[in-house]
Amino acid sequence: MGPVDMNRSYHPFVHRYAIFMVCWTIVLLTAGALVTSEDAALAVPDWPLSYGTITPPMVGGIAYEHTHRVIAAGLGLLAIGLAALLWRTDDRPWMRWLGLAALGGVILQGVLGGLTVIKLLHYWLPVMHACTAQLMFALLVSIAVFTSRWWTEPLPQYQDKGSPPVHTVVTINAAAIFLQVLAGAGFRHQYISLRPHVIGAPIVLGVVIWTAAILRRRFSQVREISRARILLHAIVGTQILLGAIALYSRISTADAAQPMPLMVASTVVHTVVGAILFAISIVTVLICYRLVPRRGEVAVRATPEQQVAAQ
Ligand code: HEM
Ligand code: HEM
Repeated sequence: MGPVDMNRSYHPFVHRYAIFMVCWTIVLLTAGALVTSEDAALAVPDWPLSYGTITPPMVGGIAYEHTHRVIAAGLGLLAIGLAALLWRTDDRPWMRWLGLAALGGVILQGVLGGLTVIKLLHYWLPVMHACTAQLMFALLVSIAVFTSRWWTEPLPQYQDKGSPPVHTVVTINAAAIFLQVLAGAGFRHQYISLRPHVIGAPIVLGVVIWTAAILRRRFSQVREISRARILLHAIVGTQILLGAIALYSRISTADAAQPMPLMVASTVVHTVVGAILFAISIVTVLICYRLVPRRGEVAVRATPEQQVAAQ
């Protein structure tokens, strides 16, 4: 991923296409979370067809489940297009393979969704489906970053003089957020109690504050890193607030005969913003790898003029 292979790699159409896929996936995550919150997972008992057809009657839970399947199929088609575009236009071999990996990921996610239905929500399949969705989203956001003009042009390189290395810090941050997502999915699909997720929230908040403090101390003059740390702070705060609302709405509507609008809205938004927070944590990792050479890598990654001491 050095500057050597970062020429002629910017194709505005491919970048816009990747951004469109990211937007499409946000809609898909919302549709999927609606299936869960509306208790519609088993409204359609078969797969890959829905009641033996691609146009089942759109009533009750079928409307949620089938709409989710249709939007997912759309992502599948878009992923074929992305893999083909990258294969034809991108001169970075790893990027071409990443396009194929994204296609494989979307297929895997679709199969997991199908198995979730056929195996009647057993074997942790809904939790796997929920977490792979978050990973897929982060992968598509990463592809949008890799295809951007910013990523593909030569950039100044900043030295990291602190310890632990910034790359380790931002990776721990992303891992902590993913574990929190995993705990949330475990509870949401009734495999574990809420306790690990509630205990995890202040821990994740602490890790984000620690990460942001290190980024500010070491790289306050780097615009991209500053933006990432501000976004991380803002979204984690919003997410904790949304989590509290989701919990309150769960408790206050526990006796209702059917899912209530406040419960549905708050749990769906909390799930989707969770995916956005995780994706931003991954983008923060990417930005650090792009702008800050790892130790021992300085000579290879940047010319002396491009190197800037950050402390
Ligand atoms: C290909 C891309 C797909 C993505 C990104 C995706 C994403 C999601 C997401 C984010 C959820 C919500 C998880 C949660 O709220 O915890 C969900 C739920 C669900 N998805 Fe998908 N999905 C995809 C494909 C499919 C397919 C093809 C099926 C086919 C049956 C499917 C069936 C389901 C079911 C049944 C649920 C509800 C699970 C439950 O309530 O326990 N999904 N999906
Ligand atoms: C650090 C921040 C947090 C993150 C990243 C996070 C993330 C998530 C995610 C992604 C899910 C859905 C998982 C899935 O199935 O896809 C979830 C579920 C949930 N979270 Fe959080 N969460 C956070 C903080 C909180 C807090 C502070 C609370 C409550 C005090 C909370 C309460 C819940 C509840 C109740 C659910 C299940 C929603 C339902 O009832 O279906 N979360 N969380």
